[in-house]
Amino acid sequence: MPITTCIFDAYGTLFDVAAAARMAADEPGRDALAAKWQKLSYEWRLKQLQYTWLRAVAGAHTDFWTVTQNGLDYALEATGLDGDEELRERLLALYLELSAYPEVPEMLSALKNLGFNTAILSNGSPDMLAGAVESAGLGPLLDDVLSVEDVGVFKPHKSVYDMVGKRFGCTADQVLFVSSNGWDAAAAAGYGFYTTWVNRAGEPMDRLPWTPQRVLSDLTTIPQIASSNS
Ligand code: LAC
Repeated sequence: MPITTCIFDAYGTLFDVAAAARMAADEPGRDALAAKWQKLSYEWRLKQLQYTWLRAVAGAHTDFWTVTQNGLDYALEATGLDGDEELRERLLALYLELSAYPEVPEMLSALKNLGFNTAILSNGSPDMLAGAVESAGLGPLLDDVLSVEDVGVFKPHKSVYDMVGKRFGCTADQVLFVSSNGWDAAAAAGYGFYTTWVNRAGEPMDRLPWTPQRVLSDLTTIPQIASSNS
């Protein structure tokens, strides 16, 4: 079936999750962070995601903002940066207004001009996603912002991917799904979406039973991929 609907993961795909630690590290008086921001950012993201998977498996859901704070607290301790409450608050504030990758507005505009439905499907809680979408100015370019809070379980639970068909009245094979998270792209491909993994960092393919149809280094060619499958 032709593609009608383009669905994007949020964190790491449209929004640069490393921006919070990177921007804080650039601020005056943050020498300790400046030396360790990359490790902090890596540990923060890894723990945030691990906690989503563990909570999904254990049936112990909480919202993504809580998991984001839990991941940060782990990462601050792991890097010896714990105990600085002002730094913690600053990093969390920056996470609520992450910048979008530079090609995102033009890519979404092109999809809208071509007549595709566009939406985010994210673990993010509605408030977090609303803040990120607004600060990046993406609101007019998206038909909807779908949050896992509506189903009460994190990705890659099937009920999250089910939200797309329910919202847009399309079948799985009419959806182009785009994620920078290898595990999310793999699971979405297993679900039946036509899936693109945006592998900016050149990471190895996850060893899972499902493989994304496309691997890209950024989002620039998404409108062409959607058009050539529509
Ligand atoms: C999201 C996370 C997985 O936006 O990046 O759903």
